[in-house]
Amino acid sequence: MFDARETLVREKFAAFKYIIPVVSGKGGVGKSMISAALSLALAKQYKTGLLDLDFWGASAHVLLNVDSKFPEEEHGILPEEVKGVKFMSVAYYTQGKPLPIRGTEYTDAFLELAAVTRWDDTEYLVIDMPPGMADPFLDILKYVKNGNFLVVSTPSKLSINIVSKTLEILKEQKVNIFGLIENMRSPEDYSNRIGRLAEKFNMEYLGYIPYYQNLDTKLDTLDDFISTDFFQKIKEIGSKFRNNFCKKPNR
Ligand SMILES: Nc1ncnc2c1ncn2[C@@H]1O[C@H](COP(=O)(O)OP(=O)(O)O)[C@@H](O)[C@H]1O
Ligand SMILES: [Mg+2]
Repeated sequence: MFDARETLVREKFAAFKYIIPVVSGKGGVGKSMISAALSLALAKQYKTGLLDLDFWGASAHVLLNVDSKFPEEEHGILPEEVKGVKFMSVAYYTQGKPLPIRGTEYTDAFLELAAVTRWDDTEYLVIDMPPGMADPFLDILKYVKNGNFLVVSTPSKLSINIVSKTLEILKEQKVNIFGLIENMRSPEDYSNRIGRLAEKFNMEYLGYIPYYQNLDTKLDTLDDFISTDFFQKIKEIGSKFRNNFCKKPNR
């Protein structure tokens, strides 16, 4: 069935210079934390947006301390700006309520949100993705053709098992991959399992972020979050993105 939003959504995504979907087959590995930190870090230099596409477990608004008032409308929806990051999430519309929807309803809601959001001249878009390979992941593969995927894994055996499958699909789809981040590594872990996983899939290992015992206590304000070592690590990784991709012409 013809849906005019499909063309519009493809065009809207194609207008960004860089799109970084933050993905992992596994939940709870730090995708939302990394997406929020990366967008805040990029926003210091570039016009940056953050789109939370985890409709079932929307989290980025919690990290950005965004309250639930509706964003402004003017020929579309204007994302709220938080420390320079243009932010869009379904959380504005669910008002703290759960959203128990099926995959097909997800795609409908995704197309609607993506079609009405006005990003204007935003250059970078970071996308906080839900875990898994269901509709949200398939929708991103379908509608975002200029993505540079950032894959997150912890060094746990379970995470590696599932993330390997995500990597397999991304390779198969021939999408650009920014690299693999290892998150929540313990200080005694010298196994380099994620480094080897990156090697196996012939992609860049972007480095590791230690497990920070007290990280959750530093999320009360954005200034607290920005002053953490976690944020600093993500900022460094963000500059790798610029080195890897921004020097290349015609991208
Ligand atoms: N490097 C880290 N050190 C300590 N806790 C972390 C780290 N990264 C993430 N966390 C914690 O792990 C939990 C899951 O993170 P989250 O970003 O919600 O994962 P996801 O989006 O992949 O489900 C959160 O409580 C978060 O604060
Ligand atoms: Mg999340």
